[in-house]
Amino acid sequence: MGSEEKVTSAVAPENEEATEAWSGVLFDRFVQYRHLVVEGLTAFGDVAIDAHPPKRCDRVLDIGCGFVDTTQQLASLVGPDGEAVGVDVAEPFIKASIEEAGQAGVENVEFLAGDVQVMDLPGPFDYAFSRMGVMFFANPVQALRNVRTALRPGGRLVAIVWRRKLDNEWVHRTEKVVDQYLEEPEETDEPTCGPGPFSMANADTVSEQLQIAGFENPTFTRCDLEMKIGGDLDNAVQFNMALGPAAELIRLAGEEAERIRPKLEREIREALAGFDGDGGVKAPASTWIISATSAAD
Ligand SMILES: C[S@@+](CC[C@H](N)C(=O)[O-])C[C@H]1O[C@@H](n2cnc3c(N)ncnc32)[C@H](O)[C@@H]1O
Repeated sequence: MGSEEKVTSAVAPENEEATEAWSGVLFDRFVQYRHLVVEGLTAFGDVAIDAHPPKRCDRVLDIGCGFVDTTQQLASLVGPDGEAVGVDVAEPFIKASIEEAGQAGVENVEFLAGDVQVMDLPGPFDYAFSRMGVMFFANPVQALRNVRTALRPGGRLVAIVWRRKLDNEWVHRTEKVVDQYLEEPEETDEPTCGPGPFSMANADTVSEQLQIAGFENPTFTRCDLEMKIGGDLDNAVQFNMALGPAAELIRLAGEEAERIRPKLEREIREALAGFDGDGGVKAPASTWIISATSAAD
């Protein structure tokens, strides 16, 4: 055990572009807005873990772990005789996690860089968890099947994913503004993040994907919480123009978006103004907590 880095360079060709995005521009933006992303998502992760906790001594997998926080939380729940393994396709997240776990003195964690769709996952695991890390696979069934194969029969998958944009109104409002002026260019050098954060919003589709991948009894529990999207309105505007579907469109549109940036900022500010209040800009956010068990072979 321990938190040495083991880099497996396995990445499916169809996930290479998303890997470039997550290892570069999106990593940098997650670093910049880490306080908002982690604070906002922690509340959803806690509800999911409270509803479906791992057991003491379990070996757990954290899919698309990003920074260290959820893997460390899982490691603490399974205790010193268990282990939490964080995997992420972006090496910069893995490097940062190894460093931070080392500084915190957490010993029962391991971090691996690789594409969960194709990498050799070091199972068997008793439990697999993901906070917003399963929506970016080009082939979700292949990725879910890979996770399922790494779980022991009867092992549980718990994943948090965004529900539809309409119920995440800050995302919807920002995208509506940007969509008026920008279209995804046919050609761009900018990498996209793959299918995108809302690709698992449809419970029927994901339920079928899970069952094809060999999971049983999938359940989808709606979890709506208020999420802080900025310390103030200016901060919320910049956050929404940096991360999420509208941000990706702005990034892909490049110079065309930069030319109209002040107008976009002004209109997004107006669109988000209703969420501004005491303690910052807070908006209703809506997710699914998915749970399913690995079927016996
Ligand atoms: C929205 S972030 C969530 C990060 C973290 N779980 C959290 O809640 O803060 C999505 C994460 O999934 C990772 N990811 C995307 N595609 C992946 C893949 N094919 N295999 C493994 N990780 C992937 C990204 O690098 C990124 O760290």
